[in-house]
Amino acid sequence: MASQHEARNGLAGLRILLGVSGGIAAYKACELVRRLRDAGAEVRVVLTANAARFVTPLTFQALSGQPVRSGLWDEAAEAAMGHLELAHWAQHIVIAPASADVIARLAHGFATDLLTTLCLASEAPLAIAPAMNLRMWAHAATQANVAVLRSRGAVFLGPAEGRMAEPESGPGRLLEPHDIVAGLTALYGPKRLAGKRVLVSAGPTYEDIDPVRFIGNRSSGRMGFAVAQAAAEQGANVQLVAGPVHLTTPPGVARVDVRSAREMREAVMARAEGSDIYIGAAAVGDFRPHEIAPHKLKKNGGALTLSLDENPDILAGVAALARRPFVVGFAAETQNIETYARAKLERKKLDLIAANRVGEGHGFDACENEILLISRDGIERFARADKLALARQLVARIAEKAQAKNEGRGTGSESRRKLVPVRARTRTR
Ligand code: CTP
Repeated sequence: MASQHEARNGLAGLRILLGVSGGIAAYKACELVRRLRDAGAEVRVVLTANAARFVTPLTFQALSGQPVRSGLWDEAAEAAMGHLELAHWAQHIVIAPASADVIARLAHGFATDLLTTLCLASEAPLAIAPAMNLRMWAHAATQANVAVLRSRGAVFLGPAEGRMAEPESGPGRLLEPHDIVAGLTALYGPKRLAGKRVLVSAGPTYEDIDPVRFIGNRSSGRMGFAVAQAAAEQGANVQLVAGPVHLTTPPGVARVDVRSAREMREAVMARAEGSDIYIGAAAVGDFRPHEIAPHKLKKNGGALTLSLDENPDILAGVAALARRPFVVGFAAETQNIETYARAKLERKKLDLIAANRVGEGHGFDACENEILLISRDGIERFARADKLALARQLVARIAEKAQAKNEGRGTGSESRRKLVPVRARTRTR
């Protein structure tokens, strides 16, 4: 994924062709143009016929400071800059919002309008920010088209989850313009983890009771997957050990699927010494049944007592290795977050711990999160944000701290650096 994006310092000077397709989210593309230009990019806008029903070309012309194109057959525009010239001009194509229809046409190589023709005629990398009804996004046809485009190197930014124009909620919403810019910047920004091997564990673990039942937890795996994606965007070679989740593997990430805590431990330990950074974002089950019943347990008219054994602590195991990577844990707490997280940092001998609140709409099932990143020499608060946006900030800090420790500037146990006041370092989106 990263290879097709030349290394450069952010979006400054990048020639971006922004394709806007039809949908209620088209209005958000106006703000996107402004933010891309604020980031230093040169932007030219191409509208599909349906997009022009939602926002006029004149609006985009005023915002981009450039003529806006929508038809293939506009003679005056073709005379000024032919569509092939425009395809050649673009160093990156961004389609936001991308409708299900545009995604389908791109996947199948149609050139039925100016935007799809330009995409076919250009060699520029493609970023797609979808926006559509949640059932259209989930439809097998759309998902197959997305997979085809991904396999050709297209990067998908979003969709976000949450309420849409309809009274329904789920994935399908256009990512906020600042998150689209952050995603593009991550592709073109400095690669803080180039050449580094990052191991991430994510998701829940399931401990089988009998052939049909298990003990699990509500971790969705989203935070760990977002961390893996953010690390890959920073140029790392990422291995992701995933418990049972329903998530697609982020581009460029090598994934190993496991089920129980002991399987996860085995997969992590086999890779830990060869890694530079280990980020334990999994919600590892603390206990497992003493034995797994070979057949389905039957009711016998009374209470059932399960005998549970404690699972090995994977994170502490990695931190105890002779050749340990830089170790980052997560702490999911319902109360006393900072106190409990600090205790885990010490007890497990971690370099950093990312603490967050779970329960009552926070953490596990939620799409957004809020994190305290704690080391022995400081604490930093990351304000509530979409998990991928948060993961990007988190990974950038982890990369910095790991490098500082490597260079002996230390943020680990040996460090004596000044405490960073909590609020002074507060970051917002
Ligand atoms: N962890 C682990 N192996 C375990 C349990 C937890 O690697 N058997 C890791 C998690 O991946 C996470 C960190 O330890 O990075 C903290 O997990 P958490 O569930 O918050 O803490 P516990 O160690 O289970 O402690 P407690 O039950 O007291 O909250």
